[in-house]
This record gives sequence, structure tokens and C-alpha cells, in this order.
Amino acid sequence: MKNNIILIGYMGCGKSSVGVRLSKKQKVPFLDTDQWIEKKQGTAISEIFARKGEEAFRDMETECLKTLLGETKGSVISVGGGLPVREVNRELLKQLGHVIYLKANPETIYERIKGDTTRPLLQTSDPQGKIVEMLTSREDKYMAAAKSIVEVDGKTYMEIIQEILEITEAI
Ligand code: S3P
Repeated sequence: MKNNIILIGYMGCGKSSVGVRLSKKQKVPFLDTDQWIEKKQGTAISEIFARKGEEAFRDMETECLKTLLGETKGSVISVGGGLPVREVNRELLKQLGHVIYLKANPETIYERIKGDTTRPLLQTSDPQGKIVEMLTSREDKYMAAAKSIVEVDGKTYMEIIQEILEITEAI
């Protein structure tokens, strides 16, 4: 695998879970931009949002992509759900590898993330409404960033991985 495979999509769509399993199957490194940022900052995403704010976090995402572009090849990379919203990030993603959008409906997402306290943007009184609102405003951005789309609703991790491999091996 020479090219990077990059998984994008909304929080809870399975980017990290699918990414880890895919990387093990292909025996290649796995990298997650949230983890990269947490390691570099020495603190959790929720702390970064609380102390420095969302814009500072978005700058860290851009810095992360620029760094990876110079040093990461043949890996599976999952990125934070909001990373493709910035245009500059969409351009960097395209340069970095084959971008796949893991598309999930709001119900699937809510089932996966309910009760989670690590995602600052969903700590609201109405997470379901927030998910629908954010998905609606982000959908175009995800589509613009992606080369391929895999619908994940009702599928097992193995089925999703199989689809990703068919897509990326066909190219
Ligand atoms: C965010 C998604 C999170 C994390 C941060 C913001 C977003 O990543 O980067 O909480 O704006 O959608 P995951 O998609 O991995 O949960």
C-alpha cells in the first residue's frame, strides 16, 4: 500500500474503529489526527477546547495535516469530524491520500455517541438536534473532500473494510 487511506466523516461514524482494524488487516501504520494533537499538546481534546477554544484546535488540525504530508506514506489515517470543514484542510487531505467519506445517518451516530463525554461539541441538552444540524451543514464539505463514499449504516466493520479495500484496490 503506497498511498495513504484517509477516513473522514462525522463523529461516531466509525473512522477510528474501522481505521484501526483496516490498518491491522493491511499490516500498515494507523494514525489519528485527534491522537496526534493530544500527544503534541500533552492534553485531551476537551481540555484544548476549554482552554484555547475551537479556532485554536482547528489551527492544530491544519498544522497536523501539513506535518503528515511531509512524512506519512502507506498508512491508514482517521481525522477529526470537523477537520474537512476548512477549505485548506480539504486541499491538504487530497494531497495526502485517498479520502473516503464514511457516511452515517443521524440515528446511527446518536446510538454510537450517546453518553460520550469526550466530544465537547456534543455536550448539549439536545445532542440529537445538534447532530442533525451539524451533519446538514457539513455534508457538502465531506462530499467535496472525498474521492469515495462508503455508507456505514447497518454494516459490520468487516463489511465496511471490504468495501474500502475494493475501492482502493481498484485504483
Ligand atoms: C470534532 C470531532 C472530534 C474531535 C473534536 C471535534 C468535530 O473527532 O476532533 O471533538 O468537530 O466534529 P471525532 O470525529 O474523531 O470524534
